[in-house]
Amino acid sequence: MHYIQLNNQTIIPQIGFGVFRMQDGKETYDAVRWALDAGYRHIDAAATYGNEKSVGKAIQDSGIPREEIFVTTKCWTDDIRSHHAKQALVDSLERLHLDYVDLYLLHWPVEGYQRAWEDIEDIYLHTKQIKAIGVSNFLERHLDSLDTKVKPAVNQIESNPYFVNQEQVAYTLQRGMDVELYSPLGGSKPGGSVQILANPVLQAIGEKYGKSPAQIVIRWHLQRGLIILPKSIHQKRIKANIDVFDFTLKGKEMAEIDALDKNHRTGHHPDDIQF
Ligand code: A2P
Repeated sequence: MHYIQLNNQTIIPQIGFGVFRMQDGKETYDAVRWALDAGYRHIDAAATYGNEKSVGKAIQDSGIPREEIFVTTKCWTDDIRSHHAKQALVDSLERLHLDYVDLYLLHWPVEGYQRAWEDIEDIYLHTKQIKAIGVSNFLERHLDSLDTKVKPAVNQIESNPYFVNQEQVAYTLQRGMDVELYSPLGGSKPGGSVQILANPVLQAIGEKYGKSPAQIVIRWHLQRGLIILPKSIHQKRIKANIDVFDFTLKGKEMAEIDALDKNHRTGHHPDDIQF
């Protein structure tokens, strides 16, 4: 596994395991156990995914020391709007059955994000409940307008070969933050990973290295220097998605994948959220 040092010196594994759209209960529990067995040490959760309890139970049952696993969760929009960020963290910790999270994010830049940021800064600065704080889905103007005592460690955004989103990546990095990517394979919606992973360019590169298109995409993101959160409910894929440290893409292959960009977003635009 490769690691990255965040701007507050916290160390984060470059590949995390995403649990978005996983059913609470057996589906999430099994997937997280398989991920931990396979060697993942970073789980990306969120209050709104509705499965923090299963994530927490899987972590607990794994027997892996808490400090060896990097756990992220996120403050949902309702709690940002209603100024309940502090309570939202307490509730997440209870569901996760943890004393602290490694990273706590504001999930979307909805009204109230400034106050929510001050609340999570306060927890970060005065308690041991959070090791790093950051944001998600923040556009340049949100990053510019955020008045901070503590610089956000990360901005978690969407990126995949059909939605490279390099501009948002670049302005996040320019601000001394790291970038985390959700839906790195294209996500599960129509037009997402199923279509992307069938792309002949990815297949041809995969054949050269004896790797699947998904492994090629994951390797491409790693070589972009970004933190990624691939998600699967299948044990074989969970294992395969971190078996990406024994080959290196050449500059020409990186450029071929960059060129697949269609500016096709599969998730929501931060200016167009109804939740
Ligand atoms: P599944 O959970 O059934 O394995 P993303 O990580 O971009 O959010 O994409 C997740 C989607 O990609 C899910 O639909 C997941 O399906 C699928 N997926 C994850 N890993 C692989 C893989 N190695 N090969 C093919 N599809 C994958």
